[in-house]
Amino acid sequence: MRDPDEIVQLAGAPVIGTVLRDEALERRHVIDRTSVNRTAEDYRQLRNNLQFLNVDEPPKVIMVSSAVPSEGKTTAVVNLGLALADAGRRVTIVEADLRKPKVTRYLGMVGGVGLSNILADTADLDDVLQRYGTGELSVIAAGPTPPNPGELLSSRHMFALLDKLRAANDFVLVDAPPLLPVADSTGLAVYMDGVLLSVRYGSTRKEQLQQAAATLERVGAKALGVILNIVPPKAELASAYGYGYSYGYGKDEPGGGATR
Ligand SMILES: Nc1ncnc2c1ncn2[C@@H]1O[C@H](COP(=O)(O)OP(=O)(O)OP(=O)(O)O)[C@@H](O)[C@H]1O
Ligand SMILES: [Mg+2]
Repeated sequence: MRDPDEIVQLAGAPVIGTVLRDEALERRHVIDRTSVNRTAEDYRQLRNNLQFLNVDEPPKVIMVSSAVPSEGKTTAVVNLGLALADAGRRVTIVEADLRKPKVTRYLGMVGGVGLSNILADTADLDDVLQRYGTGELSVIAAGPTPPNPGELLSSRHMFALLDKLRAANDFVLVDAPPLLPVADSTGLAVYMDGVLLSVRYGSTRKEQLQQAAATLERVGAKALGVILNIVPPKAELASAYGYGYSYGYGKDEPGGGATR
């Protein structure tokens, strides 16, 4: 998928962020928020747009998923979480991809005990909640991979945990597995205020996005928005920016100058 208008139509939700492909991010997973760079600005834009969604009843407990693997979900969760924490929002990231947990790896944190332990009643939230740096971001690692991730993630325990997290945070970001290959995210989606779909530019196929959106609709989950992810800097994507913002990064850089 490349055409933002088509993506909006198939996902049934607006594009609320576009993240360019960034080689440094691919290696380090966490953007350098201290320097002026385009990807950091992409994530700040995503954060700002997220805060404009449903202003009467703003979504707090938000799952990030995608149709298929490797669409940039986990990287998006981690950096969106950091961008929200930078703005002083209390955020907890839940590493809910119990089969391929990568949040803690990307953040350089410990992954041993976590969500699966809480859900199996072998640990309490306070025992496993980790603070990232000195800011407002906390993380719940996945914990050991259980034989039945889908069942755990759709359990009443999970619902109770999310309720607790909702009370203690401004945002709870749930890093979920992709929707099409496994059913894990489907059961989880019903507990969410909404779902952000990551779509990898030029890679996700039309029918895959369509099926992912249909899966969410079938369980009554709300698609809040699309993150158009890993976009080659040269791609012409002017129409993805329906918000009237423009900023000048990249205009003078070699290879930059994409219409934004
Ligand atoms: N903006 C970006 N620019 C360049 N590379 C990126 C970007 N975002 C993510 N990547 C890279 O793409 C790969 C997949 O990213 P990530 O792990 O975030 O995807 P995912 O959808 O969570 O994958 P999975 O389905 O395996 O959980 C990783 O190697 C990551 O470093
Ligand atoms: Mg992932």
